[in-house]
Formats: sequence, C-alpha cells, structure tokens
Amino acid sequence: MSSSHEPFLVARGLSKNFANVSALQGVDLDIFDDEILAVVGDNGAGKSTLIKILSGAHQPDHGEIRIDGKITRITDPLRARALGISTVYQNLALVDLRDVAANLYLGCEPVRWGWFIDRQAMLDGARKVLADLKVHIPSLTAEVGQLSGGQRQSIAIGRATSHRGRVIIMDEPTAALGVKESQKVLDLIIRLKEAGTAVLIISHNMRQVFTIADRIVVLRHGRNVGTRWRSETTPDEIVKLIVGIETGQGV
Ligand SMILES: Nc1ncnc2c1ncn2[C@@H]1O[C@H](COP(=O)(O)OP(=O)(O)O)[C@@H](O)[C@H]1O
Ligand SMILES: [Mg+2]
Repeated sequence: MSSSHEPFLVARGLSKNFANVSALQGVDLDIFDDEILAVVGDNGAGKSTLIKILSGAHQPDHGEIRIDGKITRITDPLRARALGISTVYQNLALVDLRDVAANLYLGCEPVRWGWFIDRQAMLDGARKVLADLKVHIPSLTAEVGQLSGGQRQSIAIGRATSHRGRVIIMDEPTAALGVKESQKVLDLIIRLKEAGTAVLIISHNMRQVFTIADRIVVLRHGRNVGTRWRSETTPDEIVKLIVGIETGQGV
C-alpha cells in the first residue's frame, strides 16, 4: 500500500486569500503515485481553490509544494501538465461545437511542418486514448455538444490522461451524471489507478468516496481538519469532520 513509500507531491502550509475571504489556511496535503485520494468538504470549504493551486490556476499566498522532494512552483496550467498534473475542471472546458477528436487535443494539437494541424494523427490518437480507457464513443467526428453527460465527462478525462500525467485531478466528476453514467466514470477512475496514475477526486457523494478512495482529506473553512485511510474510518466520522462536530471528546 501507499504508506510504504514517499509521496509524489507534498504540499505544506498552503494559504490563499481572496480580498477579505480566507479560502485556504495552512493546508497540508500529500499525494502518492498509486492512490485515489478524495477531498471532501462543505460548499466554500476550499476544495476548488486547493486544486486550482495544484493545477497552476492560482498561486498560493503562503506555503510550498514539493514534487519528488524538490520545491516546485506550479506557475501555470502548462507547467502543471509538464510536471504530470492534469485537471478535469467542474465545467469540463469542452468546446461544444467541435468534435470529439478536436476536444481531446484542445490546445495541444499535433502539427506537421510546424503549422498544419495533423488531423489524421488527431483521429488516430483520439481512438487510442479512448480505447485505452475502454470508453466507447460512437463517432470521433460527432460534435461534443450532442453527446451525453457521461460521454462528455469521459472525453474531458481522456484529454487529461492523454498527457500521461502522474496525477489526474477531478472536481466533482459525477455531479451532473445519472447512476449508470456515474458508475462508468468511477470504473474509469479505478482503471486509471490500476494503470499507475494517481487520482485526486472532489466529491460530495459519500458512497462514492467510500467505494473508490484509498484516503480521504476533509477541508472545513479552508483548513485540513482530517486525513484518514478509508479502511480506518467511517462515513459517520467523515461527515462529522465535514460539519465540525467533534468526535471522541464527549461533546
Ligand atoms: N476567485 C474568487 N474570488 C473571491 N472569492 C473566492 C474565489 N474563489 C473562491 N472564493 C471563496 O473562497 C472560498 C472557498 O471556495 P472554493 O474553493 O470554491 O470552495 P469549494 O470548492 O470547497 O466549494 C469561498 O468562500 C469562496 O467564495
Ligand atoms: Mg468547488
């Protein structure tokens, strides 16, 4: 299990303020290479802010991040990607009017002769990315705006995995999905882990968290109020941490 080796990413004392809102205060977080790590917490707890810092979209006001033991500044999303951190945001960031292949390569299209987008390479690559994830999408040339929520989520995840990252961060990947589609996304997350990619998932769904996560980090009012091995906690304890009911102190 993961506890026997060093974390790939170590964050210490991360703080972030927005005007007079303290979104994160002194948050510590470790990510191991081969785990599914769930980050849970109420609305406004700081979950999205935390992953935006890890994915280079925000800079922390205080704190440091080490990757493979080296202090690292994640200056922007491209740098994050180069460091092996890919993110699937809550809004998925797909372009509805473009097709599946184009969305899988958004912002990093294969080119020939320095300028000409290599459409065939895109289609071949898209086919491979989706096949590796065992995701079935009827047509690579369908506009993504026409696809189901689960298919769109799979494409956003496929784009993140195609960077061959070490960790994929997902903000509420099943929030907008039905039961069957959610299950497919969860299966996909488990396959990613089996293939050696860490997954950091934000979820409000306690059943989901307890089905897939190896460890659970609880944020409340911008602080990390607990990190638990899934096997050593209960949904009841996690919910108490989320809402701030002290446990084990007779309160
Ligand atoms: N860009 C921003 N500008 C101002 N306040 C923000 C911004 N992003 C987040 N916040 C505030 O920071 C706090 C944490 O937000 P967020 O990280 O989105 O929480 P969560 O994802 O857990 O719901 C909230 O009070 C939120 O209103
Ligand atoms: Mg959020």
